[in-house]
Amino acid sequence: MTKHSQSSGWKGIVLAGGKGTRLYPITLACSKQLLPVYDKPMVYYPLSTLMLGGIRDILIIATPEDTPKFKALLGDGTQFGASFSYAKQAEPNGIAQAFIIGRDFIGSSPVCLILGDNLFYGDLSFLRRAIAQKDGATIFGYSVSNPERYGVVEFNDQGVVTGIEEKPAHPKSHYVIPGLYCYDNNVVESVSSLQPSARGELEITDLNNVYLKQGNLRVELLEQGIEWLDMGSPDTLLQASSFVGTIEQRQGIKTGCIEEAAFRMGYITSDQLKKLATPLCDTPYGEYLLAIAEGPCK
Ligand code: TTP
Repeated sequence: MTKHSQSSGWKGIVLAGGKGTRLYPITLACSKQLLPVYDKPMVYYPLSTLMLGGIRDILIIATPEDTPKFKALLGDGTQFGASFSYAKQAEPNGIAQAFIIGRDFIGSSPVCLILGDNLFYGDLSFLRRAIAQKDGATIFGYSVSNPERYGVVEFNDQGVVTGIEEKPAHPKSHYVIPGLYCYDNNVVESVSSLQPSARGELEITDLNNVYLKQGNLRVELLEQGIEWLDMGSPDTLLQASSFVGTIEQRQGIKTGCIEEAAFRMGYITSDQLKKLATPLCDTPYGEYLLAIAEGPCK
């Protein structure tokens, strides 16, 4: 990985609330996004994705009970050369509600939302391309074997996106929308026009369809070589841990490491990275950070 030092004018939101019912009883008394995924808390994966995309002004939205735990884990972000702030979502009223809760934080900036249980692995240039755009929205399409669980992209014969359907019984394609969405500042206005769906949520699919109808939605299909996992069920949580463990042991390179992301992006110096490693130094994680801080930047 080469060292970057650029930062974007984009704001980022990690949405890490929800009830996590598919993981009950594990999540009856603790946040899904703080559970371990191999060697680090789940939230590190989406957070590092935003940071590696060049976004370092980030709002973390969690439940009222869990917000203090995220603060205790991540602080104000200055130790990572970033700025982390926090907001509460009282009830899981839908993914699009993030833009209502985050309205003041977003201000006049474009904003990228990532779900707190989503893991992206591979070359993130698709995200950097998206945040290089000035207008409209960019979302992504990823081919899966079980599209009916997700927002599904519908294409016409020319391959043009004609619609997105939330959890359709009969999906019109295998392409679904991962939990990573990039919007221009109009999102703040557009979200205010949404009505709750039949299941009582402000749907991200409805928001994307607003952009689509206006002709302002890009759907970039993610190529093979990019992995996307959501980690919200016992099976996918185990798969994610196995996946991360396998590639980290094989390559000797971590994924989802926020300290490394901050260093590679030039947000912090090697001395600052060493300081972050010190309290962790009896672990392979801490040793890894020290090795990066001391070694040549690859
Ligand atoms: P989901 O997996 O759809 O919901 P959940 O996390 O509550 O889990 P379950 O379905 O098992 O009950 O949410 C995807 C991500 O979005 C997850 O990180 C939680 C987050 N989320 C919120 O923070 N608030 C919300 O209102 C919703 C709908 C999701």
